[in-house]
Amino acid sequence: MLDAAGPGLGHFIREAGRGGAQPGGSIAEGQSEPPSGGAMRGKNVYVETYGCQMNVNDTEVVLSLLGDKGYSPIQDPTIADVILLNTCAIREKPENKIWSRLGEFKKLKAVAKKNKRRGPIVGVLGCMAERLKHKLLDADRLADIVVGPDAYRDMPRLLKIVEGEADGGAVGALNTQLSLDETYADVVPLRPAGAVTAFISIMRGCNNMCSFCIVPFTRGRERSRPTTSILDEIRLLSDTGVKEVTLLGQNVNSYADFATESQRGAPGTTVGDPFSTYAAGFRSVYKPKREGAVQFAELLQRAAEIDPEMRIRFTSPHPKDFSDDVLQVVQQYPNVCKQLHLPAQSGSSDVLDRMKRGYTREAFDALVDKARRLIPGLALSTDIITGFCGESEDEHAATLDLMSRVGFEQAFMFAYSQRDKTHAARHLEDDVPQPVKARRLAEVIQVFRETMFGKNEKEVGRTHLVLVEGEAKKSEEMLTGRTCTMKRVIFPKISVPASQHGCGGEAVPQPGDYVSVDVVSAQSSTLTARPLARTTLREFHSLHGSTVPRRS
Ligand code: SAH
Ligand code: SF4
Ligand code: F3S
Repeated sequence: MLDAAGPGLGHFIREAGRGGAQPGGSIAEGQSEPPSGGAMRGKNVYVETYGCQMNVNDTEVVLSLLGDKGYSPIQDPTIADVILLNTCAIREKPENKIWSRLGEFKKLKAVAKKNKRRGPIVGVLGCMAERLKHKLLDADRLADIVVGPDAYRDMPRLLKIVEGEADGGAVGALNTQLSLDETYADVVPLRPAGAVTAFISIMRGCNNMCSFCIVPFTRGRERSRPTTSILDEIRLLSDTGVKEVTLLGQNVNSYADFATESQRGAPGTTVGDPFSTYAAGFRSVYKPKREGAVQFAELLQRAAEIDPEMRIRFTSPHPKDFSDDVLQVVQQYPNVCKQLHLPAQSGSSDVLDRMKRGYTREAFDALVDKARRLIPGLALSTDIITGFCGESEDEHAATLDLMSRVGFEQAFMFAYSQRDKTHAARHLEDDVPQPVKARRLAEVIQVFRETMFGKNEKEVGRTHLVLVEGEAKKSEEMLTGRTCTMKRVIFPKISVPASQHGCGGEAVPQPGDYVSVDVVSAQSSTLTARPLARTTLREFHSLHGSTVPRRS
């Protein structure tokens, strides 16, 4: 996110669209004219994606749906027939960025008009589209189509309406209908060719209604995709060489599929008190009905069993849904990554109460302790909001204490931004002055950095299993990938033994290979390592007894 702070923006991607937007790139009036187009050429579409990984995967769904209608993705907005912005509404700042991009695209339209050519159709998709609806069409016609997250199947029709309009004289087209059951289960997302990692959406929407959050309003009610379609997609990705999938959902671990028969008989997982599906001490404002459903622990287990060489991650979870059986699956399966996102939001029980998060500080601490006890080497990340309504200095101090006590390896920290419609906007006062929010944010970041640097330094000398993603950004001589704990590692692109046993000759590791490495130095957000050998997840695990060995 644009006002995000902290090193790895791992789970928030500023611009990750297939269009490959140039961050900060602007479009100047009078830019050279695009090629004439030719009579028979198909239509093309340029996309920029903002917000969370769900949006990245939604963009892949949209490109797949439009691909069926003859649209191909391109990287250059100046020659696009259709320009799409897949947007985020979580805070004010990301929305401001969209308004300025829309202003820039308006210039493109003006250039086209001057040259008596039809300009691009500009569409706003995603959460900001859902939040602002027709306001985006009314605003000086900056957008031609507005499409909410559950209405992407309607895009070809909406595009057709606008294509048929006389230039300038029309009203645009909009569909922001939310759905109770849309999961795009049957759409195969158009993913980048040769990618080693992939996102898979498993559920959509959120029922939690945390008082600060717009997501329930922009994404609608929770609904889960059928288990079988998720497992089929994982099999397909495994067959095409993908080595890591991240299961996605606004509330990923509240997954519950009633259409598929549960194969788990473990006590406490699917029967009895509905709150038994929660971590101890956690509640929510709604009572989940999950009896008899395939729940998250089972899905995770079945996903992990498909291909033991494929890593499984998941985000974004809610801490309440880390029931014991979810933690057990993470612990038991070597290919389920030993990294959990535990969005705390605040370290103060009173603030958590005003946020309607459904847990206290004590319950959160107990969950951290239990997860760490159960899963050796576990890495934790979190989300924090500073300056929420009524936050006192003492309550802020409790968040600083949480940060130093837990020592998260990654954190996404934001100043509170009031969003219309939310409980907080309607009932609480946004009374912490902006400079105070900013100062508290800086303090939280400072504590986070100190603990994180300390942890990174302890990594020096350790052996890690890295999945190679490709060349490092800074140097073609280096390769990059992530550990099971989500740490970014760079290491020299040199020949190494083809296996940890030394048999099979030598080879330079390729994207999609697992490599065992020794960490030689730690920077603020990356580790530099020495590659030891190519390996497999199972080989590494059997040699070290873990995918996160504690000693070198
Ligand atoms: N479902 C996840 C969070 C999804 S939203 C959870 O329950 O934790 C991603 C993050 O954006 C949130 O964790 C929160 O830290 C931040 N966020 C949401 N609304 C916000 C607001 N109004 N102001 C500032 N940050 C916000
Ligand atoms: Fe927003 Fe809360 Fe839902 Fe997370 S759980 S998406 S913070 S309402
Ligand atoms: Fe933003 Fe919507 Fe994701 S508000 S964080 S894009 S669910």
